[in-house]
Amino acid sequence: MPGKADVLKQVRAALEHEPRINLHRYPVSIDLDRDGTLMLEGDAANIAAKKLALELGASIPGVSGIVDRLRVGPTEAMGDGAIRDHIRNALLQDSALEGCGISVRVKDQMETCRESSAKPPACIEVSVNDGVVTLNGQVSSLSHKRLAGLMAWWVPGSRDVINGLEVVPPEDDTDDEITNAVRAALEKDPFVNPDRMRVSTRNCVVTLDGFALNQKEKEMAEIDAWYIFAVDKVVNPTLLAGSANPALAEAVAGALELRLGRRALERFPDGELHVELQETVRGHDVYVIQPTGPPVDEHLMALLFLADACRRAGAANLTAVVPYLGYARQDRRATGRESVAARLIADLIRTGGFRRLVAVDLHSPVLEGFFGIPLEHLSAVPILAQAVSPLMPADGVIVAPDLGAVKLAERYAKLLHLPMAIVHKTRISGEQVQVRGVVGEVRGRSPIIVDDMISTGATIEAALKALLAAGSGPEAVVVSSHALLVGAAVERLGALPLRRLIVTDSVAVAARLPLPLQVVSLGALLAEAIKRLHEGRSLNDLIAHG
Ligand code: R5P
Repeated sequence: MPGKADVLKQVRAALEHEPRINLHRYPVSIDLDRDGTLMLEGDAANIAAKKLALELGASIPGVSGIVDRLRVGPTEAMGDGAIRDHIRNALLQDSALEGCGISVRVKDQMETCRESSAKPPACIEVSVNDGVVTLNGQVSSLSHKRLAGLMAWWVPGSRDVINGLEVVPPEDDTDDEITNAVRAALEKDPFVNPDRMRVSTRNCVVTLDGFALNQKEKEMAEIDAWYIFAVDKVVNPTLLAGSANPALAEAVAGALELRLGRRALERFPDGELHVELQETVRGHDVYVIQPTGPPVDEHLMALLFLADACRRAGAANLTAVVPYLGYARQDRRATGRESVAARLIADLIRTGGFRRLVAVDLHSPVLEGFFGIPLEHLSAVPILAQAVSPLMPADGVIVAPDLGAVKLAERYAKLLHLPMAIVHKTRISGEQVQVRGVVGEVRGRSPIIVDDMISTGATIEAALKALLAAGSGPEAVVVSSHALLVGAAVERLGALPLRRLIVTDSVAVAARLPLPLQVVSLGALLAEAIKRLHEGRSLNDLIAHG
């Protein structure tokens, strides 16, 4: 069991880490009793800060319960009597609560404002003390309980709402029930137009997405959701695209039915990059979509600058979605006195503020160990193998064009039920490679060469020439997760007997290349990964294992 000092330290650190709580401006007194009950007392910036503080406090090991004395700063100074009258009037006027009795406490006396006409009887008793509203009594449904709570929160002087209403007969609460309550709140709120907003709930965490007319409306909708009884958290995903691959970012946004967040990426006359967010991301889960293909440094800087802007603007969580990760090949010192650039890049992504990285078919699985943040290493192999299927010759052989591609080739061979061969390649320079031999049976067989990336095309060219020399079939299918196609790649590949070149759009591929190109989009895969991350669901079947 952790000691009291340890628990308090962890609670404070968790609250300090959450930008929406802002302990410096809204100090909270924190204490822990002998039974592990945590007491939080003070003024919270708003309902979101209050609920987040409670959730964070409860998540710390050693905390067994919480005493909530956090009050929300009122949006308008009001006396208890005025708050009570506002709530009473709102409850009396709401048609959904028609049969429900309403009583209010005035100077220690309960005054009946309306008798119950419901069976079994329903009654809401309202008392207000120092801005804190307490609702007692019984109502016939969870939606009535939530509605009454919302009415109380909506009064601008309310500082807290203790919703003690009992539901008779009792009802099981569900995520759908919460979704309906949030939607009903948005529909009721005269300042919100919910037509193009979507609400979903998972484990009491509400996701709001879609379109709001403006920033104010978006914030109002979020606050409404936070007000709903039993909502632990409201998350608002924001997708931001870097400059590297706007079409892919649009495809991801389209699959998620989200729009891309507004941001400006400009260059000063001296070449410096300037990044500015043009809408709020405060409290949002932000996904920055930016492959770091060529020009790699430019795209890497934009990724880091976007992270920095989001972090400083109060984003709650930052995920880098980098379908192609540049510098990944520099994962060791092959000759000595070299930099291990991949490690440095991993450090930069973490220190830049990202809490998670989503990548696709990394050059090597060892890279995972370079990252101090969780890495979701997705695989495009299943969708690429699916694209190969219709072209698959009965006499096909999967070929790894070098030793580094053997694991990848094994995965294709398994999915496509084909035998495998390996080309023994050595690299002489960035542009030149040399083949030493071919291992496996390729004579008379149609090669399907698979690789993680095609850069200058030298590897594919050398591999195919070696295969042809070893008596393979005259045409090859080439499959690669990332098509950088730099230097002489297009000419090289164009001169080869290729039946098809199948790649993903991890890196933007120029249109109308003189190649038999088929581009498979990663849009749906990345969207599915983002959706599941957001909902806290498993990504196991999307991950590149092994
Ligand atoms: C090497 O280990 C990689 O898997 C690729 O085979 C290589 O980077 C491709 O580069 P290029 O097309 O320039 O040969």
